[in-house]
Amino acid sequence: MNAVNPFDLVIFGGTGDLTARKLIPALYHRHCAGQLPEQARIITLGRRDLSRDDYLASISEKSHAQISEKYFDAEQWQAFSSRIEYRKLDANSDDDFNNLADYLQGTQDRIRIFYLSTSPDLFAGICQRLARSDLAHENSRVVLEKPLGRDLESADAINACVESVFDEKRIYRIDHYLGKEAVQNLMALRFGNSIFEPLWSHGKIRDVQITLAEDIGVEGRGEFYDATGTLRDMLQNHLMQLLCIVAMEPPISMDADNVRDEKLKVIRSLEAFTPETVKVNAVRGQYQAGIVNDEKVPAYRDEPGISEDSCTETFIALKARINNWRWSGVPFYLRTGKRMHEQVSEVVINFYSLPHAIYPASEQGESVNRLDIRLQPQESVELHLMAKQAGDENVLKPVKLDLDLTGSGERHLDAYERLLMDVVRGNQTLFVRRDELNAAWEWVEPIMKTWETSEKPPQFYPAGTPGPHAARDLIVRDGRHWIDDD
Ligand code: BG6
Repeated sequence: MNAVNPFDLVIFGGTGDLTARKLIPALYHRHCAGQLPEQARIITLGRRDLSRDDYLASISEKSHAQISEKYFDAEQWQAFSSRIEYRKLDANSDDDFNNLADYLQGTQDRIRIFYLSTSPDLFAGICQRLARSDLAHENSRVVLEKPLGRDLESADAINACVESVFDEKRIYRIDHYLGKEAVQNLMALRFGNSIFEPLWSHGKIRDVQITLAEDIGVEGRGEFYDATGTLRDMLQNHLMQLLCIVAMEPPISMDADNVRDEKLKVIRSLEAFTPETVKVNAVRGQYQAGIVNDEKVPAYRDEPGISEDSCTETFIALKARINNWRWSGVPFYLRTGKRMHEQVSEVVINFYSLPHAIYPASEQGESVNRLDIRLQPQESVELHLMAKQAGDENVLKPVKLDLDLTGSGERHLDAYERLLMDVVRGNQTLFVRRDELNAAWEWVEPIMKTWETSEKPPQFYPAGTPGPHAARDLIVRDGRHWIDDD
């Protein structure tokens, strides 16, 4: 793996959860892989007045917990942590930005990355102060975490402010799902082979299901979550980006704009929801107390930081349609939620069954032709087919062709490792462009508004289950079923 160019990575939100759980472990792995040049520095910023030693002690403890024993090496960690500096900064203080500018003085020739892992309300102010303190030089880039805004209007206002400081080529709107290994594999499968393309359309595909199920709850992020909800946290970004990768036309190259042009077309072809269709084709749920992985867990409304009559959704299921030549008539069933029965993210492509059966029916019923792309917990790609059982009778049974993605046993990169290195390399292919983001907001807004003005609360589901019954009905009434509901 080639070393990247020298950089200064400045993280706003340096004491936050994302920095400890994802960014620092990702950078540690890149350090161990020899990808970080000697001069690369990580400058974390936070409001708290901490000494460097105190910060390192705290970040080490939290980050270690995310690094598997197998890959943790105390000496390497020691060397890696010498790259980290902590500085106190109040995002509303010009003086603090001027101090930061003094600190970064003399490294203008390096790539400078400002990673904004704060509330999106602060993005515009931070960028303006970066400009005022002369920190946003031409070698600098800004990374914006999701969710970017609360709706189209707020996202647009933030983007306009950020763009007054950084042009679009220097803005990296991150959606870590795009950096996942299995998503790269899905693209490779589709655009690196000729055999799937003729099958990849309405004549052959009966339906597509995308599930991002989590067994975890709000994990100490109660206040954030209650103000955000699953629609803004998962649907508007992760789920929609996966949908784009499944449904997009082959781009003319992997160049960032070519890929993003095709994703944008998918979003623009999505059938718009109306208040009436939201009632029929969208389900929102909220978990109640229940049992997850043999442990009793409280209801969402009883979690710390959640208001007792909260109507924030922790689950969504939708039936979406893409109105274009390739996908006309193919339902896309999307589902995501917290405190569900399992922790699994997968894309399932269901092909039509046979037009006419000449073999006796198998014990399992109808013939199965299905492609499963699993993102987690274990990445895999499985093609399900019917094959003849050994013996003299012509009885078929479902078998699966399992693509070994673990290869030589090499460690898979975490999404943030890939994406952070892409920012340093200046590769925007796996980042979201402003028009894409706007189109995604535009599509989810009718759903959001219908729910916000509805007097009906979300449908409750016991923690540890696949969501409210209505999510099952949504698909069963089309004569189909969720993949885990066999
Ligand atoms: C984040 C959401 O973007 O993605 C979290 O804010 C969610 O609520 C997480 O748990 C899921 O990511 P992953 O990679 O663990 O599937």
